[in-house]
Amino acid sequence: MCGIIGYSGPKEPLPILIGGLSRLEYRGYDSAGVAILDGEKLTIEKKEGKLQILKDHLENSKINGNIGIGHTRWATHGVPNDVNAHPHSDNQKEFAIIHNGIIENYAEMKDDLLKEDFIFESDTDTEVVAVELGNQWTGRLLETVTNVAKKLDGTYALVVTSTKEPGTIVAGRMMSPLVLGVGEGETFLASDSAAILEHTNKMIFLENGDFVEITNGKFKLFDINMNEISREIQEIDWKVSEAEKSGYDHFMYKEILEQAEVIERTISGRLEVGSEEIPIDLNKAKGFEKIWIVACGTAYHAGLFGKDLFEKVLGVPVSVELASEFRYREPIVGKNDLGIVISQSGETMDTIAATELLKENGSHVLALVNVVGSSLARMADSVFYLHVGPEIGVASTKAYLGMLVGQLLLAKHWDSEGKLDTSFDEIKQLPALIEKTFECEDQVKKISKSINEKNDIYFIGRGLDYALAAEGALKLKEISYLHAEALAAGELKHGTLALIEEGTPIIVTASQHHLLDKTTSNVQEVKARGAYVIAVGDSSSKKLQDISNDYITLPEASEMLSTVISIIPLQFIAYHVANLNGESIDQPRNLAKSVTVE
Ligand code: AGP
Repeated sequence: MCGIIGYSGPKEPLPILIGGLSRLEYRGYDSAGVAILDGEKLTIEKKEGKLQILKDHLENSKINGNIGIGHTRWATHGVPNDVNAHPHSDNQKEFAIIHNGIIENYAEMKDDLLKEDFIFESDTDTEVVAVELGNQWTGRLLETVTNVAKKLDGTYALVVTSTKEPGTIVAGRMMSPLVLGVGEGETFLASDSAAILEHTNKMIFLENGDFVEITNGKFKLFDINMNEISREIQEIDWKVSEAEKSGYDHFMYKEILEQAEVIERTISGRLEVGSEEIPIDLNKAKGFEKIWIVACGTAYHAGLFGKDLFEKVLGVPVSVELASEFRYREPIVGKNDLGIVISQSGETMDTIAATELLKENGSHVLALVNVVGSSLARMADSVFYLHVGPEIGVASTKAYLGMLVGQLLLAKHWDSEGKLDTSFDEIKQLPALIEKTFECEDQVKKISKSINEKNDIYFIGRGLDYALAAEGALKLKEISYLHAEALAAGELKHGTLALIEEGTPIIVTASQHHLLDKTTSNVQEVKARGAYVIAVGDSSSKKLQDISNDYITLPEASEMLSTVISIIPLQFIAYHVANLNGESIDQPRNLAKSVTVE
């Protein structure tokens, strides 16, 4: 949450900062700001609202300098306004600081500083750090920042510059992501590699407790005690165009339509028996006593899909856990267990904490992540990258599909008795099948008109279809702001059926043939109460087709792959309903991509 960008080098920083912030806006968009240092002249400009407001404000201004830092905010402490926007300053206006994360002991630090007559303008935790920097100046910026960092409890990615040491940026991290971009005679800083990819694909992913001192485009890495350290430079193979809208109205729409192409990459090199790309082989997989799938949001929904597959092929019990709950209870995790942590960003705070718990208890951790070099990828014992490219839309689409397919590939490699009703040959055809599924879009557009004005929408399904329903409901509510709820179809009559009345939209996913009759009976029950039924299934579901108001027919495929592609009409429904209502699709209110705070 919150986007960070920094630049030191021979170029003018302002255009680089604005370009970076434009790519980072999905991380927070309630205010934005920049600080530019020109010798001993520090200029800070910040504005409440979307980045465009800051851009308009700066349009005709010429703020030259040799270094700059910029921030786009997702508010934690203090409402979104100009004053609470970053960068923040000390009382003498000699330091500029931007920050991601939460300083938990800021109130105590603030009390101490108030007693010494320091003053505060904002309600943020970050300003406390800025004022403390002014208070603790030692004569060297790196030393001052590391000294102050030692006093901080909580999480941070901090970037600081000061008129007291013109030409230097110091940055450091603890639990919040920070990436260093290594250019020719220039150095970039970002909360996310996609923000600086247009400048360099050479990145250093800072570890917790790492600090960097950047002077005139050159950098040195240190630990918190100022001992010099070194970190590996990694080359990122994402294409710049993948992080751009390329003529589409929304990243989310572009990312839905990219799914055939990106899934080609997810499966590439992973369809052969014994592929080295599969990090855990069958023998090892069979030895686990229990599997814990731990994740948040959409990634958790993907885990619901994986549970059935892994239990079926390995005969090992699987528990799917919300990371935010798992980390605070006392799960009975053993050293012969496998933890599968799933995350697009690899930086979700709760999933990271859950991973620590799994590791502390001695279990093997396999991370299914998209972002190369992310925290989870580095913490895990084994990594399976999704390879779906940068996902910018806050509402996850292609990464979710990558998570389904990733788990399907693992399960298929562990399927020694052929229990899954699909083959590697069929999975190879998945990109073509996804392409064919896109043909439902026109029908979905029409259907969207019938549900965009309803207040409550229910998604139902059984088995794996329930996992899909959960994701369909989340997609709809996060971007359309309509109330959507997912239910295991058999649960309706245990309470929620009371809410069904004339015209209530019910969206049914029905790809599981062996459950079709049961699901159809549940549909009869809601039809009898006047529900408007939209069903997604294949052409064999004649009875369900007949009783549905709208039926979206999936292309022919095995039951397993039908389930996988069923998410596409649900993604289209969410997108087109939100679009009809004119909502801000890529930046839904109150949300941000990559939840790096609790
Ligand atoms: C998805 O549409 C959401 N924005 C959100 O639920 C997301 O999936 C969740 O925050 C987990 O993120 P991660 O995959 O990066 O860990």
